[in-house]
Amino acid sequence: MSQLTESPAWQALEKHTPQLKKLHMRDLFATNAERFEDFSLQAGPIFLDYSKNLMTEETMALLFALARQERVEEHREAMFTGEPVNFTEHRSVLHTALRDLSDEPVLSSHKNVKPDIKAVLAKMKAFVDKVRHGQWLGYSGKPITDVVNIGIGGSDLGPKMVVNALKPFASRKIKLHFVSNLDGSQMAETLKELSPESTLFIISSKSFTTPETMFNAVTARGWFVSRVKNREFIKKHFVAVSTNLEAVERFGIDPHNIFEFWEWVGGRYSLWSAIGLSICIAVGMRHFRELLEGGHKMDVHFRTAPLEENMPVIMGLMGILHNNFLGVYPQAFLAYDHYLNLFPDYLQQLDMESNGKHINRDGESVDYNTGPIVWGDQGINGQHAFYQLLHQGTQPIPCDFIIALDSYNPACGHHPVLMSNFFAQTRALMMGKTEAEVRMEMEQEGLPEEEIKALLPHRVFEGNRSTNSIMFKELNPFTLGALIALYEHKVFVQGVIWRINSFDQWGVQLGKQLAKEIQYDLLDEQPVAKYDSSTNGLVNYYKRYRNIEGNKLLSCNNDWGVLQEIMEKEFK
Ligand code: F6P
Repeated sequence: MSQLTESPAWQALEKHTPQLKKLHMRDLFATNAERFEDFSLQAGPIFLDYSKNLMTEETMALLFALARQERVEEHREAMFTGEPVNFTEHRSVLHTALRDLSDEPVLSSHKNVKPDIKAVLAKMKAFVDKVRHGQWLGYSGKPITDVVNIGIGGSDLGPKMVVNALKPFASRKIKLHFVSNLDGSQMAETLKELSPESTLFIISSKSFTTPETMFNAVTARGWFVSRVKNREFIKKHFVAVSTNLEAVERFGIDPHNIFEFWEWVGGRYSLWSAIGLSICIAVGMRHFRELLEGGHKMDVHFRTAPLEENMPVIMGLMGILHNNFLGVYPQAFLAYDHYLNLFPDYLQQLDMESNGKHINRDGESVDYNTGPIVWGDQGINGQHAFYQLLHQGTQPIPCDFIIALDSYNPACGHHPVLMSNFFAQTRALMMGKTEAEVRMEMEQEGLPEEEIKALLPHRVFEGNRSTNSIMFKELNPFTLGALIALYEHKVFVQGVIWRINSFDQWGVQLGKQLAKEIQYDLLDEQPVAKYDSSTNGLVNYYKRYRNIEGNKLLSCNNDWGVLQEIMEKEFK
């Protein structure tokens, strides 16, 4: 057993939960009229009702004791004050500093990071205002109508989700596109719509070595240069966001067009940095600042509220309860909001890349579950697709239900009906429907006894399935900022309790390395024999039946040399 699972707080929960599993939330609500008041809270613009989770006062006390035992408050302070909490990469984790617009210094390696943040924000503002006001002109004197963000992972999912979520605040004069896929089809389809005269490309990559992004960037540049026939024009149409200024310059982007960020900003936590440039172009700097302020509001709450009244802590503990003590491994996010349709994708990276780890701080393999399987969709669409499993499947899945009280498009009463579905689903999952209730319903329908007997078990709902309900007045930049920060901190709390590093991502390296090796094997027609028989077989099948010969792959792209040079650095 590990130190954590042997610890008193963990053991106390192990002892408590078998009894808990025998309870039904229906009874917990029946015996406590105040359950909603007891287990709900407001933090900034966000309201959370967690009363529909399978837990009691005693469970909560034990969970808070676990958080205290694992020194969540101390770790939280270490993150906010720039200690190298990303201990495998020896880095501070200071995305919170990006959204603290005050002059209060924040140190990373004894250096105040605030002046650099301010300088980049000012540079972003000058650029963004020009683009939005039609003053940043393309090579032929036309204003920008289309912006293509080329990035992947944190350099794509965060900005794309926010741009989508804040559509009601966006300029309709400029269209935003996001290209992440190495499959050339995404870039090809995007470029078909665009004119080189009025398109701006943002190459977003923290490392500026990520192959997917580099390929797409090179392809975009090839497309542009082949049309305008003058490489000088690149500076009016290509900008970059990165921590790797040297690689950006080698790629050929004008140093004036580089927006910097820093190694203490993790990729999946970077939308608050210059990686948010596409957000700024879409909604303007004022709204971007409001997004930052919303994030900061949640930071202040998280940093100062006692654990018992701390929303990210409570949400983290609900996850721990289910994942480690109730044996429920997945977690679903169900946003009842069209503008949040990319939120589950974003949360997937945030949660699974942060906490999908099995090695603890001491370098030992853990003997408990860590990061859950995270998935989700728009709630109302899911009701007609996968909710069957949520209600009657063999595996209970805790769900976060998310909704805004007011819609920006309340056409013909849609919103109250959407709200009623939101309320109904969490109640149905909690209450279920007993045999007696089903029987009564079927008798009222006038069904014959034989049919009642046959159908009854199929129409019973066990209920007792846990949900959080998250509500806010409207989905504006401030609220969205607070919502994102809420989930970031929830993931942090869980990582602390599981004693893992939520801020590295070594797990993505092996696949990258192998792809690089195999890539060279595809350049000729010789069969390979150096891998396992499956990999050899697949590679050779591809070589035998593909339409393009290996040696032609090189000549497809006249910028191959630059690309190789940049990528060599990563793999050497
Ligand atoms: O491969 C995973 C990852 O490193 C993510 O953590 C990151 O968000 C993404 O790739 C993109 O990285 P970069 O911004 O350096 O191109």
